[in-house]
Amino acid sequence: MKTRVLTGITTTGTPHLGNYVGAIRPAIRASQDPNNEAFFFLADYHALIKCEDPDRIARSRIEIAATWLAAGLDPERVVFYRQSDIPEIPELAWMLTCVTAKGLMNRAHAYKASVDQNRVKGEEDDDGVTMGLFSYPILMAADILIFNAQKVPVGRDQVQHLEMARDIAQRFNHLYGGIEPWFVLPEAVVDDDVATLPGLDGRKMSKSYNNTIPLFEGGPKALQSAVARIVTDSRLPGEPKDPESTQLLPIFKAFASSAQIDEFIDDLRQGMAWGDAKQRLAYTIEQELAPLRDMYANLMARPDDIEDALAIGARKAREQAGPLMARLREAVGLRNTI
Ligand code: TYM
Repeated sequence: MKTRVLTGITTTGTPHLGNYVGAIRPAIRASQDPNNEAFFFLADYHALIKCEDPDRIARSRIEIAATWLAAGLDPERVVFYRQSDIPEIPELAWMLTCVTAKGLMNRAHAYKASVDQNRVKGEEDDDGVTMGLFSYPILMAADILIFNAQKVPVGRDQVQHLEMARDIAQRFNHLYGGIEPWFVLPEAVVDDDVATLPGLDGRKMSKSYNNTIPLFEGGPKALQSAVARIVTDSRLPGEPKDPESTQLLPIFKAFASSAQIDEFIDDLRQGMAWGDAKQRLAYTIEQELAPLRDMYANLMARPDDIEDALAIGARKAREQAGPLMARLREAVGLRNTI
């Protein structure tokens, strides 16, 4: 039996280095293992939670799809699809919503962060909080459970959502399970070295903090200028630097060999200028990204081919999701009429 690996990216923005090292690169590696079968998707229903700009969502969908393909996703091996092409996902999300305690959702980080921000501003706890944001982890659980994925490669920020998916799966299994449980309990696969890649300001690299380093968009110039804007301390060239306290190091580690990392640390201790360190960082990232960027540019010039690949993926995904959904409808007492 193959291990089923699944992951998704929300289509709200241009992919950044954090998405690449936290999710895309480990997922592509996992998809190349013959013991695995991979399901990778564009989380476009999730995008509606944070973005009301249809053009932005449409553009982001193509950019993220092209990114996956440029990073090495082979659509022959991987089931590659758009979440919104699989109607079984929102259908399962509703079934799961009906068995999920509201208290579980009250504890979700994204919801709690909105409440905290409102309190700081002196506003009502739930001001501006939609039901989409509140129940977001249930939709994510449906993404995973509809395919009974066992492993989910993600950055650390998604680990709580995986725990919630397990809780929800257990609850459903308990309520409706016979001898066989309906859902396997999915596990997050987090690469500890790059679990949270910092952004320009040292906080987690995130579209919402506006502190990202773009992966392909803007070419090597945009990469270099973003790297030049990484915040460093005021130590002058020649003064020893503390490698562990700069976010240049975790980013460098994500792209360099261990010999290059040792040399980088030594050079910082011996007073390498921040400007030189940043140049070396940009160069090292570029070594890995340059060939992928060319591929990305080719793909972006052929959006129809991308859409075709996604349509094939959607058919394959529905071949899996449809029969499970039919059995789930029976299990909860609904009739399958069509
Ligand atoms: P999203 O779109 O915010 O991020 C996509 C993936 O990139 C990882 N990531 C990072 N990893 C390391 N360092 C960072 N700075 C960084 N920023 C982002 C995220 O952890 C994620 O793995 N809810 C998800 C999308 C989703 C999903 C799913 C994922 C929807 N359904 C089912 C897995 C399974 C999200 O918003 O990720």
